Amino acid sequence: MMTINSITSLREALKPARQAGKRIGLVPTMGALHEGHLSLIAEARQVCDVVVTTIFVNPTQFGPNEDLDRYPRTLKQDLEACKEAGVDFVFTPETTELYPPEAQFLSIRIAELTDHLCGATRPGHFNGVLQIVNKLFNIVQPTDAWFGQKDIQQLILLETMVREFNIPVRIHRGKTIREADGLAMSSRNRYLSAQERAIAPQLYAEITSIRDYLKHGGDITAEDLDRTLAAARYRLTEIGFKIDYLSIVDVRNLQPQQRVYSDRTYIIAVAAKIGNTRLIDNIIF
Ligand code: PAF
Repeated sequence: MMTINSITSLREALKPARQAGKRIGLVPTMGALHEGHLSLIAEARQVCDVVVTTIFVNPTQFGPNEDLDRYPRTLKQDLEACKEAGVDFVFTPETTELYPPEAQFLSIRIAELTDHLCGATRPGHFNGVLQIVNKLFNIVQPTDAWFGQKDIQQLILLETMVREFNIPVRIHRGKTIREADGLAMSSRNRYLSAQERAIAPQLYAEITSIRDYLKHGGDITAEDLDRTLAAARYRLTEIGFKIDYLSIVDVRNLQPQQRVYSDRTYIIAVAAKIGNTRLIDNIIF
């Protein structure tokens, strides 16, 4: 495995594989790797000839009061995990390599796909995500790239970017990997105190029971849906969550739904804080 921190060296290193028409898989990460990341790498390893992982805590996707400074940085362990997982190249650029001091003029405007869910409470977050992933696509020029379904809004936005800008990368959805008690794996889980960790799985428990209710209830009226969501919000708040959103959105446009029809596909999405830690989760059904 080679660890590379300059764009020029990475391009040089990937040249032979590209010229030979090899399949190049990219797994972008912000480090603090966990089983979720490793499952994306394992899938890339199975499908591609060459696997590139990037480890870069991207400043442009953090808001002014967010956790950029304290975001977990565990490079040594991450590199060991990548090596173990069979990664060929790890790209670990400094911030100035990707964002040189001269001004950045271009950004990607995103329409209504960011009006709701995380886009509503983290203004600018997805502009930063699309900016960095676009840059990584141009630098690595992968044939395939993997992103986890836990960040469903990010995933759908990236699929949209690739489709609408005709970027020749095939995006793969990695399924959410969970702890034994259901908590979705996340680099931010390590912020949780023992007490917070004990209640954290309730997030998944609630969206699972909403899914079960909606799945077996046929067409659900607006009142039923309202009542079900309000009850779940109440229970989560009672045990200490501060809810950002708990919504049912349409899988195609991420718009919140007032009614649920048994023949359509929806996402139940939740974001909530316990203490200072913001957790997100979702189920597609
Ligand atoms: O999902 C993440 O970890 C980040 O948003 C990504 C895709 C690596 C871009 O910085």
